Amino acid sequence: MVSYKELGLVNSKELFKKAVDGGYAIPAFNFNNMEQLQAIVAACVETKSPVIMQVSSGARKYANQTLLRYMAQGAVQYAKELGYEIPIVLHLDHGDSFELCKDCIESGFSSVMIDGSHLPYEENVALTKQVVDYAHQHDVTVEGELGILAGIEDDVVAETHTYTEPDEVVDFVTRTGVDSLAISIGTSHGAYKFTPEQCTRNEQGVLVPPPLRFDILEEIEKRIPGFPIVLHGSSSVPQEYVDTINKYGGQLEDSIGIPEEQLRKAAKSAVCKINIDSDGRLAMTAAVREVFATQPAEFDPRKYLGPAREALKKLYMHKTENVLGSAGKA
Ligand code: G3H
Ligand code: 13P
Ligand code: ZN
Repeated sequence: MVSYKELGLVNSKELFKKAVDGGYAIPAFNFNNMEQLQAIVAACVETKSPVIMQVSSGARKYANQTLLRYMAQGAVQYAKELGYEIPIVLHLDHGDSFELCKDCIESGFSSVMIDGSHLPYEENVALTKQVVDYAHQHDVTVEGELGILAGIEDDVVAETHTYTEPDEVVDFVTRTGVDSLAISIGTSHGAYKFTPEQCTRNEQGVLVPPPLRFDILEEIEKRIPGFPIVLHGSSSVPQEYVDTINKYGGQLEDSIGIPEEQLRKAAKSAVCKINIDSDGRLAMTAAVREVFATQPAEFDPRKYLGPAREALKKLYMHKTENVLGSAGKA
């Protein structure tokens, strides 16, 4: 058993309290490899932002669980070396079983998500409570989820949103003891969130998707005032990345993400953790494709992964400074 405390990590409890009180959200960026990890740490140190580095079960299989633990430990040291100590959480994203959560807790994670959102309500309560009971013995924080996001999560595909039912939240958080709650108010996973047909044009001619259901968020906040809320599926799918990818041989379809103004608005509420993965994937792919297309003789991986890492860092700095408001809060 390795405790996250030995690795220099923190759980999310204090961070969430400060974020809810301060009207900002902590970035939760997914990582699978060294360049992503370096970009996350460098961007958050430079903007003095607390950060949640999150790992999906797919990432854990891809990168190897032992390596990941040392990478997280390395991230803490790397931040110090860059000259500013920021709070770093290592979080399991979309845990789907008690065993996986337990394994992560025992290998240095400071926070886990148990995602029972696809289960019947009582089963979600029972599974989430089982994880909370174990996690809290080790001072590890737990995120649960109510409601189903449209889109793809690992192997689970949902065609439409099942919005979180505000009347369920009090019962769920009291019976499970979770530390934070992921909700469904219109965000979705992946790069394809809204088609142009689902959007309307604003005065500047920009396609705007249907707004998030802030009315549901308000109802939830009324029932559990100050309780930490999490938004998944919060990539904005910047058009410049899609254009660069397609310019250099990619074949992405038209897609619109969550407008950043809506995320800024959410971050001012009890939403204190905002998950972003797809935007990073797009930034990396755009940078790599550009090098491949413009410097076809190049074959040193550092020559394309280096620019990809720079593009990621720039993206993450933009998110902490201009979208989530977490810059300067570490
Ligand atoms: O919500 C899912 C995250 O974007 C992680 O995706 O399961 O492909 O690693 P993944
Ligand atoms: P995006 O696909 O919108 O980046 O969402 C990521 C996420 O919710 C990870 O849990
Ligand atoms: Zn998610």
